[in-house]
Amino acid sequence: MVSIPSVGIIGSGKYVPDRILTNQELEQMVETNDEWIVTRTGIRERRLVAPEQATSDLGYEASKIALKAAGLTPEDIDLIIVATITPDMFFPSTACLIQEKLGAKRAAAFDLSAACSGFIYGLATASSMISSGLYKHVLVIGAESLSRITDYTDRNTCILFGDGAGAVVLGPVPEGRGFKSFVLGADGAGGELLKVGGGGSRMPSSTESVTGKHHFIHMAGNEVFKFAVRIMGGAAEEALEKAGYTKEDIDLLIPHQANIRIIQSALNRLDLPEEKAMINLDKYGNVSAGSIPIALAEAVEQGRVNEGDCLVLVGFGGGLTWGASVLIW
Ligand code: UT7
Repeated sequence: MVSIPSVGIIGSGKYVPDRILTNQELEQMVETNDEWIVTRTGIRERRLVAPEQATSDLGYEASKIALKAAGLTPEDIDLIIVATITPDMFFPSTACLIQEKLGAKRAAAFDLSAACSGFIYGLATASSMISSGLYKHVLVIGAESLSRITDYTDRNTCILFGDGAGAVVLGPVPEGRGFKSFVLGADGAGGELLKVGGGGSRMPSSTESVTGKHHFIHMAGNEVFKFAVRIMGGAAEEALEKAGYTKEDIDLLIPHQANIRIIQSALNRLDLPEEKAMINLDKYGNVSAGSIPIALAEAVEQGRVNEGDCLVLVGFGGGLTWGASVLIW
């Protein structure tokens, strides 16, 4: 019998652009204030791409760090998956642009669209492809330039989003380690709650689509909030059960960084103290598909992840979509 190899993360990295947009600056742009933003979201500042940068540049920087940490060269990579809702352009894919920048000549490459859940969808896809024997090393990137699709006159959304990228290299790991379960879900009925409606085949770019602000994120914040509170704890519990673990086993929860109140509700449901969650939304805001890999890479940088630790990754987002995974480091 051919044994299925264990697959895990063998290197991680993150990159955020230098420009910091503070709550105080937002006070000058829309009718809001630092106190409201901090108490309602937990966010204090976020990063913005430089005018000459795009999503592939952010993903490329994070990937170089992840490859170095894995001790691999770009030529060792068999496949690149980029989870993003802010690709450089419709096509070629951002994954192809990063493949070229890296010189990952052997790698296949494609983008994956599952909004803020995209990174977990990417991990599940890559992990399955490695355990099936199709590939050995896969680079999974979550990268976003959300400032490019944010309406800085809309206080409901502009306080939330930021730019950045996280990347991981997946490969074979010793038995007992690596990914233990994945849970992926979608509810297309909630698609209208969070979307960019313009620029696609339904509403091609036009003067009307621009003046109607259809190229920006539109969100029914409160509805998404309620969905998030319901799904975060539930998806994490389902992933634990599938893996044969319990909430007492969790060493570190790495949640999507959308709102501190959403993370707290997941912690309550899982009976976990705040120290058991990686939280960095105060510095970066919501980076959609970039949030979880940035948080993961930063947890590794800070020495918060040790060999054998039980990590639970969980996210939700537009689609609507959600995803969770149990990972033994
Ligand atoms: O990655 C997934 C994407 N999205 C999310 O995860 C977002 C999920 N939703 C949320 O995080 C929250 O719903 C928000 C932070 C977006 C909003 O917080 P909320 O507690 O749900 O506020 P709300 O939308 O119910 O609005 C409460 C009040 C309203 O005023 P009135 O109608 O009560 O007078 C808003 O107009 O707060 C007002 N408000 C603001 N006030 C100051 C909304 N945005 C702001 C703001 N500054 N930036």
